[in-house]
Amino acid sequence: MQRIPLNDIELALHEAGTGRPVLLVHGFPLNHHMWDAQVAALSASHRVLAPDLRGFGQSDVTEGTVTMDQMADDLAALLDAQKITEPVVLCGLSMGGYVALAFWRKYAARLSGLILCDTRSAPDSPEAAAGRETTAQNVLASGPQPVVDVMRNKLYAPATLQDKPQLVAEVEAMMQTTAPAGIAAALRGMAVRPDSTPSLPQIAVPTLVLVGEHDAISPPAEMRGIAEAIPGAEFVEIAGAGHMAPMEDPAAVNQALLSFLGGIESGS
Ligand code: MLT
Repeated sequence: MQRIPLNDIELALHEAGTGRPVLLVHGFPLNHHMWDAQVAALSASHRVLAPDLRGFGQSDVTEGTVTMDQMADDLAALLDAQKITEPVVLCGLSMGGYVALAFWRKYAARLSGLILCDTRSAPDSPEAAAGRETTAQNVLASGPQPVVDVMRNKLYAPATLQDKPQLVAEVEAMMQTTAPAGIAAALRGMAVRPDSTPSLPQIAVPTLVLVGEHDAISPPAEMRGIAEAIPGAEFVEIAGAGHMAPMEDPAAVNQALLSFLGGIESGS
């Protein structure tokens, strides 16, 4: 784990492997460890960068509101700091997907591919945005537990919740060790993210849209719509998995990612 000074903070980065760069961007309110199985599989053939976003894991926290654009700016600065000038494949899950779409809006020329996992292009409804502010205030007052409680029944396929208590415990430990100010700032940032849906037809990099069959936060039907709106996008549904598909079925997700990366590299 390195700490990279950039913009006004230090960002924590786990890096492994050599080859074409792949940037893995975690969901809320997690950290780079959610990608451990992907880092292990992809780093045999790629240079994998798995940062902790601002406010999460071992990265510095800034209070107030941290927008998806700010997180995208941090990632661009991270690539600069690591002297990566060639275009990267950016893979983001959920909030990481919101960041990936923000990155595409600002830095499309730095992308060779986009992987949108278990994420949404639609913005928050006014009710959802108001709910995030309430959660932010609860977390600032009493710590991460309110988020842990809300997320428990949304993140996994029913079978995961029943059969993989260790995975559920691992995810909850990530949430419980996240700084309340980081959680609140990201909630406020997600609440003001723009609607990306009208721009999907303009995405001109190879794109993979991947979703767990039982994703309750970004359901397959909605993600299929995202894939249909992006010219040439591939769509993969991971059977038996939920919102945390990369952790719930790492073998199937790794296979989809490696096949997509192989396709980009062979120009198909
Ligand atoms: C995530 O998994 O990153 C969050 O569920 C995204 C969200 O709250 O919109």
